[in-house]
Amino acid sequence: MLVAVLERYPEVGERIAANLGARALRVKCKTFPDGELYVRVPEDVKGEEVLVVSTTFPNQSDSIIELLLLADALRRTGASELIGAIPYLAYARQDKVFLQGEPVSAEVVLDILLERFSKLIVVDYHSPGLLAKREGRAFNVLISDILVRASLKYLSDPIVIAPDKGALERAKFAAERLGLQFDYMIKERDRVTGEIRHYPKELDVGGRDVVLIDDIISTGGTIADAAKILLGQGARKVVVAASHGLMLGEALNRIKGAGAHKVILANTLAAKVGDPLVEYVDISERLSSEIANIVGGRR
Ligand code: R5P
Repeated sequence: MLVAVLERYPEVGERIAANLGARALRVKCKTFPDGELYVRVPEDVKGEEVLVVSTTFPNQSDSIIELLLLADALRRTGASELIGAIPYLAYARQDKVFLQGEPVSAEVVLDILLERFSKLIVVDYHSPGLLAKREGRAFNVLISDILVRASLKYLSDPIVIAPDKGALERAKFAAERLGLQFDYMIKERDRVTGEIRHYPKELDVGGRDVVLIDDIISTGGTIADAAKILLGQGARKVVVAASHGLMLGEALNRIKGAGAHKVILANTLAAKVGDPLVEYVDISERLSSEIANIVGGRR
């Protein structure tokens, strides 16, 4: 197997190649003055199974086009099979028609890539059900246990909490692996007063440490609100953790303002926040072993 490493996201690709004992093939990419993209595979890959490692943030749309161009170039230079390992696959949150007339963007992106890649491996995908619908071709790699484990040095016997029911599986996966309690927060509107209450469904956070875990931090609103509420309900410390820290605009300040003790993010993106509050964890090892299982037919 060859591992095609893109300039936008070299670190994880290089580590995966080393872990798999495969050769890394550095792909040349550039942008023309008019904004169009160009890629070039530097050598013949005749008969090779090629694993392409890239990510799709920032510049989501460009990075998807880049993957399509690269897949075409690899096929033309003789690759026998293409597998994509894309830790952050963008457009996942438009995963259904919310308002009539909308597309299901997540399916558009998945299917356009699956026309060119025989398998796609994605980290903590927002809508795992859409991957499950493409069973045997699209795979989700969970990493919430790695994020929660990294938080343990700051916390004592924490509860793992998801900010909403949608993130519950993530919290459960980590908590069960690490022997911790878990819960999710529910939002309830009092039908008489109209007041909104937001609280953990089962567990009392009073005096407890909490890891608040989500898939994506975008504007930071969801996780900052949840952190503030938990601290307001008596939690001792709250560490915020997410697989994909887009951290747009005021996200970090919002999270700081909410009183979070630390922000733990995975290195799934081609962008990092440099701030003492933020710590990154490496997903290469987990991704490498999952890739080995998938390629070896054990998943
Ligand atoms: C939503 O369903 C996602 O799981 C995240 O909770 C959401 O995307 C976070 O967005 P923001 O940081 O803008 O609140």
